[in-house]
Amino acid sequence: MLAEFLHLCRHAPGALALKRKLPQDELYATLIERADRAGLAERRRALVSDLRGKVVEIGCGTGAMFPYYEGAEVIGIEPDPAFAAKGREAARGTSIEVIEGSGEALPLPDASMDAAVLALVLCSVPDEDRVCAEVARVVKPGGQIRLIEHVRSERRVAGALMKALDPLWFRINGQGCHLDRDPLPALDRAGLRIESIDAFQIWSAGIPAFPMRSIRAIRARAS
Ligand SMILES: C[S@@+](CC[C@H](N)C(=O)[O-])C[C@H]1O[C@@H](n2cnc3c(N)ncnc32)[C@H](O)[C@@H]1O
Repeated sequence: MLAEFLHLCRHAPGALALKRKLPQDELYATLIERADRAGLAERRRALVSDLRGKVVEIGCGTGAMFPYYEGAEVIGIEPDPAFAAKGREAARGTSIEVIEGSGEALPLPDASMDAAVLALVLCSVPDEDRVCAEVARVVKPGGQIRLIEHVRSERRVAGALMKALDPLWFRINGQGCHLDRDPLPALDRAGLRIESIDAFQIWSAGIPAFPMRSIRAIRARAS
């Protein structure tokens, strides 16, 4: 916990200075590119490169996941117009389509997708249960759900600290992000069966070294 705190203290002034200079979409693209270079890119590739067929990426943001799809037909859903515009730029020259919309009301028919991807999104959505229910609606039975999420620490003191600091973090990040969420209960309530959880951390300038998880789940078949 001390290492994470020192990391935050070391990089917060630089990140706050950038925040004053750049619009939110540029700020996010700059900071997430650093995280990608510090190892997040490898996690992204491992998460989605084997997906095939129709894939919906919810909260695709500036398109940071797009380089890692290898054989899928991808639709990105993004509510923020400035992020969606950057996402479309990132998708140029590919078959990826970016649609403005929210994860709580996906503009897709029932059981129309082979997989859904959420990368660093459930921390920011207003209603995790509705988003997970929408994922369960649009993904075919047996289809894949892949997530990268940062989560509240399971360590007692660190977890309590994250909970206490959440209102401050929410105000500062300007992105709707909470630092004290756990996505697993909402996935479970939507009937999405967790297959594997891989824990990791990314140490990059400007983003706290949150506990992160790569999560694989399946939309269960009706019994
Ligand atoms: C931390 S960014 C992650 C962006 C991208 N997925 C990535 O991996 O870099 C969170 C994204 O979730 C989007 N978002 C927020 N609320 C949402 C919602 N209700 N439905 C879908 N996306 C949402 C934000 O606009 C933002 O693009």
